[in-house]
Amino acid sequence: MSPRVAVVGSGPSGLYTVAGLVASKVPMAIDVIDRLPTPFGLVRYGVAPDHAKMKIVSKVLAKPFARDEIRYLGNVEVGRDVSHAELVELYDAVVYASGTEHDRRLGVPGEDLPGVLGAGEFVRWYNGHPDVAVTHYDLKARSVAVVGAGNVALDVARVLSRTAGELRDTDVPARVFDALAGSRVCDVHVLVRRGPAEAKFTPAELFQLTELADVDVVLHTGGVPVPEPDSATDKRVRQNLEIFQSFVETPPRNRSRRLHLHFGVAPREIAGDGRVERIVVEHTAPHEERLVATGEQAVLPVDLVVTAVGFRGAAVPGLPFDEATGTVPNDAGRVLADGASVPGVYVAGWLKRGPVGVIGSNRPDGAETAAAVLDDLPADARSRGGGLLSLLAEREIQVTDWDGWLRLEAYEGTLGHDSGRGRVKVHDLTSMLIHAGPQRFGMDTG
Ligand SMILES: Cc1cc2nc3c(=O)[nH]c(=O)nc-3n(C[C@H](O)[C@H](O)[C@H](O)COP(=O)(O)OP(=O)(O)OC[C@H]3O[C@@H](n4cnc5c(N)ncnc54)[C@H](O)[C@@H]3O)c2cc1C
Ligand SMILES: NC(=O)c1ccc[n+]([C@@H]2O[C@H](COP(=O)([O-])OP(=O)(O)OC[C@H]3O[C@@H](n4cnc5c(N)ncnc54)[C@H](OP(=O)(O)O)[C@@H]3O)[C@@H](O)[C@H]2O)c1
Repeated sequence: MSPRVAVVGSGPSGLYTVAGLVASKVPMAIDVIDRLPTPFGLVRYGVAPDHAKMKIVSKVLAKPFARDEIRYLGNVEVGRDVSHAELVELYDAVVYASGTEHDRRLGVPGEDLPGVLGAGEFVRWYNGHPDVAVTHYDLKARSVAVVGAGNVALDVARVLSRTAGELRDTDVPARVFDALAGSRVCDVHVLVRRGPAEAKFTPAELFQLTELADVDVVLHTGGVPVPEPDSATDKRVRQNLEIFQSFVETPPRNRSRRLHLHFGVAPREIAGDGRVERIVVEHTAPHEERLVATGEQAVLPVDLVVTAVGFRGAAVPGLPFDEATGTVPNDAGRVLADGASVPGVYVAGWLKRGPVGVIGSNRPDGAETAAAVLDDLPADARSRGGGLLSLLAEREIQVTDWDGWLRLEAYEGTLGHDSGRGRVKVHDLTSMLIHAGPQRFGMDTG
């Protein structure tokens, strides 16, 4: 019997690992297990709704599911519905590609006040993730702070600044469209603790701010000119600096919304009477390649704070985990416990290397993990063969399959058509499960 591999997580890293395994032509059966009935991880629930072209990559990621020996087992959460120990019993190799879903904390007083959100939570909301299906943000806020200088901060600031007309062609759920279309946000303040040359934004995403329909972009550098790039300046930074300079040179056009980019400000406290009313920042300055606080503080009145300061993974019971980095210790994909590799257990993607990198970065990463699996994989199955579906049936878990995802996807197209939009996401798990229906593999015994 061919060996059996479980891949936990159907985001880019899981599916690029599967692609690497398939490319080897080594006979094996692969089960891709995801806690959701919908595949593609952050391609569906992270990538911003106004970046529809980016989501086309899902067509490439979906390719392995055309083969019978590769199954999608959706709505199955490892650590809740099935344990790590059980997977290790049932499969010859188990690859964890379950991402880093938790928001990193900012670590300032007032972070738990109502009106402070992690970007992961806010992004999941506007992208229709079922985890936030019951959450309603009334966007009565007029002034919003977004903390961070990465592309996620830009995504959040941009989505909050779009007009209803710009959002109509996106796939956001109806309730999200209504909330954003009715939003009263006038000022979005992106707070960057370092200078323009150190921002992690990428030029294509930064340039998109110039294309927003009804927004003036305002740069705040504390009176310090945007640095001039020189011949040693990296291309990304050079392009960013040119775009920042163009913001300085563009006079305000009296648009309805302003998107402010503040440099050299580190958040120190979020405060308010029962909910957010202001954020206190301290000015910073570079000193001998370090960032030093100047002691000078400023107060910005805001009604909503979104922290976009990175992510961290969650430990799966039984699987080694590095609490400091929020990742799984590994050597080129082989999971390590006390420095030695754990036989048959692997990791890929953000859970392997931390929450940095674009979708494409997961391709070589997945290929590396696939190579480790292939090196170690026995020619014949040593596992006791199949059995996961029977186990999940005993536990009354409604497992969904790839065809179920295709049915749900088709229904989202119909919903969009009926409401005059391209496609509209279904965001609550009960409806997702109704439209995906139960899996139809039959019970597996091997
Ligand atoms: C907000 C945001 C926007 C982004 N936008 C872009 C962009 O526009 N362009 C770009 O190139 N890159 C973008 N990226 C980066 C890109 O999304 C990541 O590089 C990539 O998704 C990481 O892939 P992954 O497979 O490691 O994790 P993920 O994509 O997070 O996939 C993890 C999967 O594991 C599943 N899972 C989690 N826990 C369990 C469990 N216990 N049991 C079973 N399944 C589980 C999840 O449901 C998910 O499907 C963005 C990232 C973020 C955070
Ligand atoms: N369109 C796209 O291609 C796209 C879209 C979204 C995300 N992504 C990718 O996904 C990855 C994750 O993006 P990300 O934005 O979450 O991460 P990121 O690029 O690592 O940015 C995180 C930001 O948070 C800041 N930060 C951290 N702690 C802070 C604190 N205590 N106070 C103030 N600021 C703090 C960091 O500042 P310092 O720089 O000073 O450390 C950094 O600017 C990135 O690789 C990104 O490129 C890509």
